[in-house]
Amino acid sequence: MKATFLGHATVYLETSDTKILIDPFLTGNPKAAAKAEDLNPQFIVITHGHDDHTADAVPIAKRTGATIITTYELSVWLSSQGVKTSGQNHGGWCKYPFGAVKFTPAFHSSSTTDERGRPIYLGEPAGAIIQMKNGVVFHAGDTALFSDMKLIGEDVAIDLAFLPIGEHYVMGPKDAAKAVEFLHPKVVVPIHYGTFPPLVGDPKEFARLAGKEAKVVILQPGESVDI
Ligand code: NI
Ligand code: MN
Repeated sequence: MKATFLGHATVYLETSDTKILIDPFLTGNPKAAAKAEDLNPQFIVITHGHDDHTADAVPIAKRTGATIITTYELSVWLSSQGVKTSGQNHGGWCKYPFGAVKFTPAFHSSSTTDERGRPIYLGEPAGAIIQMKNGVVFHAGDTALFSDMKLIGEDVAIDLAFLPIGEHYVMGPKDAAKAVEFLHPKVVVPIHYGTFPPLVGDPKEFARLAGKEAKVVILQPGESVDI
């Protein structure tokens, strides 16, 4: 399986028969390494409702017919815009042709805004465990550190984890390194830093702190890891 970091928190998973796009934010993303119209996923996994995780989901799903796998309230919101969705909630596996998905807790928020800029709440944010034939990927979504990450690490053997390290809205490098201790993935890729000025978390600091616990791979947008 090839996992490509497309900038911010957007990840593209490709196997011989399946393409899964996670948290698509390409349009308006200054670090985007792809154009929304060049991606052809069969599935789109979304962790929460913020625009920097959902921006291109509806146009891509409409063009490709992809099914959006996400949390229940966000799935209802997206369905109302005319796309196919599979709404799950935290803690239960749901099977798909490529394998299975389970949403984990995330300490964050999940909303969009209406036409006057007022927040519309879209249920609870999540992380996503994506189990595929070739391995298990964990995308933590946006989150603070929490000790129940230990349970996620005990639940599945994570081959590849994507963890936010940006500070301000999400964990910084120190807390993210602690999360690596709890999750013990084989390989971890830091994400959600450097896109906008508040996201000051330094991936080199994260690599220094987390390097004892897992193999840390710092990907520039557009670069991939194979698992
Ligand atoms: Ni967010
Ligand atoms: Mn975010």
